[in-house]
Amino acid sequence: MPVLSNERVSMTSKRKSIHGQWSSRLAFVLAATGSAVGLGNIWKFPYIAGENGGGAFVLVYLLCIAVIGIPIMMAEVMIGRRGRQSPINTMRTLAEEEHASGHWQWLGWAGVMAGFLILSYYSVIAGWALSYVFRTGSGLFTGLTADGVQSIFSNLVNDPERLLAWHTIFMVMTMVIVARGVRHGLEKAVKLLMPALFVILLVLVGYALNSSGFGQGVSFLFHPDFSKITANGLLIAMGHAFFTLSLGMGAIMVYGSYLPSGASIARTCIAVSLMDTLVALLAGLAIFPIVFANGLEPAAGPGLIFQTLPIAFGHMAYGSFFGMLFFVLLVFAAWSSSISLIEPAVAWLVENKGLSRVHASINAGIATWSFGLLTVLSFNRWSDVKLLSAIEIFKESTIFDLLDYLTANIMLPLGGLLIAIFAARKMSREATVEELGMGDRFFYPLWRFLVRYITPVAVSLVFLYALRDIRLIRTILGVIGIS
Ligand code: PHE
Repeated sequence: MPVLSNERVSMTSKRKSIHGQWSSRLAFVLAATGSAVGLGNIWKFPYIAGENGGGAFVLVYLLCIAVIGIPIMMAEVMIGRRGRQSPINTMRTLAEEEHASGHWQWLGWAGVMAGFLILSYYSVIAGWALSYVFRTGSGLFTGLTADGVQSIFSNLVNDPERLLAWHTIFMVMTMVIVARGVRHGLEKAVKLLMPALFVILLVLVGYALNSSGFGQGVSFLFHPDFSKITANGLLIAMGHAFFTLSLGMGAIMVYGSYLPSGASIARTCIAVSLMDTLVALLAGLAIFPIVFANGLEPAAGPGLIFQTLPIAFGHMAYGSFFGMLFFVLLVFAAWSSSISLIEPAVAWLVENKGLSRVHASINAGIATWSFGLLTVLSFNRWSDVKLLSAIEIFKESTIFDLLDYLTANIMLPLGGLLIAIFAARKMSREATVEELGMGDRFFYPLWRFLVRYITPVAVSLVFLYALRDIRLIRTILGVIGIS
């Protein structure tokens, strides 16, 4: 039974969440930043920037953050706070209230599904980071060359049992925090860790600054060469803007549902996006100089940070200490993101199935953990399984690659597109003006214009442009005469 949807509330923003509330706006900023800043910034951004040619990719990504990401984040937080329930029930309640179709609740379901799929592989990668805490801490990398560092990484990913063990530990860590609930679990952890992560990234950038590859690293990241970016690269840059800001699947929506009324949504979202972007750029600035100074390959793929940063740690003073600290913080960043990936599902289980938070967390955790086995195996025993090898861009894609592509580049942008449509076309102007609380002058119309026109058009164009690479879509487009 949905908890609140039957209650007629005249002023909807007076609704209360049964799950509790953040203690303040700052607590929300920290939690949302905790969700946004994660493996996406430090592990994924550098390797996809490396695979897609650098500068031009980074520029498209930054544009997507500004024009698509921030407005959609505002829409998500606004919808969440107005509905004050899990995304599924929030969408149902708001659709009813706005006399829109009941099918909108499927958007909530799609989000739960996306969160489940993402967490299933996210946890495996977070497991790598966890294992590197011990590897760096024990001084394993001291004095090693790039080759030595690389072979340590391949030994790890080639061993399914080890990957499984770390994946299991990380999933248990996630479920423990989720079970403890909004304030006690989530809020406390991020307060200290986010600033610490920032500081250690600065230390690493300082190290990179003195390396011989710094100039090359900076120019790789910031000198756009549009001949290097493909249509598919464009889609990856846009998908990553959604992934890194935790948009399009209800994570930020469910966090918004715990946001006290009266806190400014616009300022909050801009702050979170800026911090997220800064962390990604710092990670890039720390990693690429090492890549170039050691003659490594920028397009090394998902192992990039695990094959580059340890070289630096192996050669700097107190490297084992800094290295351990870095991976501890990376694990915390991943941890504060993983809890938000599963929170929409857990909130729904509590609301509709009457489970306690503890039981809801255990159920959701076991399901996600099991699905994660596919990713564990795709790095070793099943590394030759290429399900979509008939399609050119997926020729080399493992199960993990496909899961990542499907969620980040298709499900999240599609979810974001629908969120934009709901916020700007289905919700009444009055409701959105009231909930966003930024007056009716310049900024509100700007937001509304962006989510009504710019965002949907931009997302659709990138989709069409990129997917035209796929033969089936090309045929369809040919038939209707657009190709
Ligand atoms: N934003 C997180 C990261 O960058 C990942 C994430 C995606 C979290 C979607 C929640 C929802 O690592």
